[in-house]
Amino acid sequence: MIHRRYKTSYAMWKDAERYVVPASSLIAKDPHLFTYGAYPIYLAEGNGARVRDVDGHWYTDFQSSLGPAILGIAYPAVDAAVMRQLHHGVLFSLLHPLQNDLAKIVCDLVPCAERVRIFKTGSDATTGAVRIARACTGRDMIVSCHFHGWHDWYYATTSMNRGIPASVRKDIIEFTYNDSEGLEKILRAHKGTVAAVIMEPVHLDPPRRGFLKQVQSLAHRHGALLIFDEVVTGFRFSVGGAQEYFGVTPDLACFAKAIANGLPLGIVAGKKHIMDNTRDVITSTTFSEDALAIAAAIATLKELRRRPVIAHIWRMGAEFQNGFNALATQYAIPVVCAGFPPRLELSFSDYRGRKRLEIKAYFLQESAKRGVLFGNAIFMNYAHTRSDIKKALRICEEIFRTLADAHLGKRLVLEGEPTQELW
Ligand SMILES: Cc1ncc(COP(=O)(O)O)c(C=O)c1O
Repeated sequence: MIHRRYKTSYAMWKDAERYVVPASSLIAKDPHLFTYGAYPIYLAEGNGARVRDVDGHWYTDFQSSLGPAILGIAYPAVDAAVMRQLHHGVLFSLLHPLQNDLAKIVCDLVPCAERVRIFKTGSDATTGAVRIARACTGRDMIVSCHFHGWHDWYYATTSMNRGIPASVRKDIIEFTYNDSEGLEKILRAHKGTVAAVIMEPVHLDPPRRGFLKQVQSLAHRHGALLIFDEVVTGFRFSVGGAQEYFGVTPDLACFAKAIANGLPLGIVAGKKHIMDNTRDVITSTTFSEDALAIAAAIATLKELRRRPVIAHIWRMGAEFQNGFNALATQYAIPVVCAGFPPRLELSFSDYRGRKRLEIKAYFLQESAKRGVLFGNAIFMNYAHTRSDIKKALRICEEIFRTLADAHLGKRLVLEGEPTQELW
């Protein structure tokens, strides 16, 4: 069932399935995670908070490239920095001086940053941080909470572990966010073997009072490092990341997504004594020196410092979250906009005999039809305006009204497939 509105997108997808494996190289963009058949798959261009799909429809996009486009797409100051650098070259046979400038800015902005290592992706950064922690402590075990990227040491803990040696699993233990007693039990049971506790400082649920400090002191009491995975929260919750927002400084932190407004760059930032004592730990990769991404990162961070970007993101996120949750209550629709304003997620429940993934698919289908792209996470950016939020809420209200209609069974027409879950 493919809606003709998106026929170019789906023709491209069929083509991709013949040549690209998997056809969506980023799992989070797999069209089955949206409303397969009634939601676009390919976007051709964008500007600010607007994007155009390959069938020619424009949308207000609330996913901000899944986090990176913190300033909005094609942000002039970042594009200008990239173009300037492009005319001088992208990658050289020797080191490029821009990396020093970037390192200094990160050390200036991020509380835990006294030294940095430069990478390409968030997965590179979390993997680098884990290796540094293992080298620093001489231990192997990693205690982890949340998602951290595609490398063996994380996916070994999931059911999507084909191709990963079973032996990798023995060195990873998961703990539950906000459960400091559970974490303490794990650390006691594996006394003297844990190299690091790695976690996002916050995902959707707020940390219980004192939780992040407790994790820090538990990790340190057991001789382990605390690593904050700030791939999503970094340069988004605060210019200095969620560590600055919550006032807890980890030993190491990982950044990617928003640091370069969409160009690929990952960073591990950390305390001097740890970073200096692990200089011989290998994390070497050809493209880490890509001067375009580094120029983009410098320009992005300068804008974050110069303009009220973070305050704007909080304000837009709060307006949307409050408005959305008020409408859901008003129309008695079991959906919640959860999380903190810089990073939100819509959580659907079963409703009047319809499964929650059908409700979600219907919501995504109807909002896309009306010119708004919601996805699995909502990330505000500096280009979103009050009128974008108002328009989005108006559309949510229209959809809720239809859902709340007494003749729901007749009115809810799913034109594509129910949304699938990632795991
Ligand atoms: C918290 C977190 N850590 C790490 C990663 C991996 O980053 P990347 O996709 O750039 O490898 C992601 C990606 O979404 C993430 O959300």
